[in-house]
Amino acid sequence: MSHVRAFLSQAEIGARVTALAAEIRQDAGPGVPVHLVGVLKGAFIFLADLMRQMDGPVSCDFIAVSSYAGVKSTGQVQILKDLGQSIDGRYVVIVEDIVDTGLTLAYLQEVLRARAPQSLRTACLLSKPSRRKVGVPVEYIGFTIDDRFVVGYGLDFDEQYRHLPFIGVVQGVE
Ligand code: IMP
Repeated sequence: MSHVRAFLSQAEIGARVTALAAEIRQDAGPGVPVHLVGVLKGAFIFLADLMRQMDGPVSCDFIAVSSYAGVKSTGQVQILKDLGQSIDGRYVVIVEDIVDTGLTLAYLQEVLRARAPQSLRTACLLSKPSRRKVGVPVEYIGFTIDDRFVVGYGLDFDEQYRHLPFIGVVQGVE
C-alpha cells in the first residue's frame, strides 16, 4: 500500500464533526427527531461519528447510488440500494462524504425531495468548490479543500484506505 500523507488529523475531524452535530441539532430544534440518510459507501464513518455526537432523537438509513463517472453530463445516476424506510414528513439530513462536481448530490436531493420530507438538508464532510458543475445547496460543510483526490475516513481510492482515521493524499496520486 502506498503512503498516505495526512492533512486533516483525527483530532481535527473529530472536533469539526462535533460542531456539525451541534449545528444540526440547533437548527432542527430540541426534541425534533432527525433522520440521517447516509450515502454509501463513503459516508458510513462520518455518519457513525456524527450520529454519536447528536443530542436528542436521531435515526439513520442508507442509500447507495451509482457513480456519475462515465455517465453523460446530464448527471443521471442510479439508485443501487434504496432507503429502507419512508421519509415522508420527516426531518431529513443527507450525509455525504464529499461534494465534488455536485452531480451525485443534485440527483439525490431531487429524488429525496420528491418523497415529501418535512425538511431536507445536507451535510458534507468535505467540499471541493473548484470542481463544481452544478450548484447544489449544502447547509453543513466540514472542510473546504482544494482540488486534490483525498482518501481516509470512509473515502477510498479503488476501495482502499477507507479505514484510515485521518484524511490524506496518496503519495504518487497528487
Ligand atoms: P460528485 O457527484 O462529483 O460530487 O461526486 C461525489 C462522489 O465522488 C463522492 O461521494 C465520492 O464518492 C467521490 N469522490 C469525489 N472526490 C473524491 C476524492 O477526493 N476522494 C474519494 N472520493 C471522491
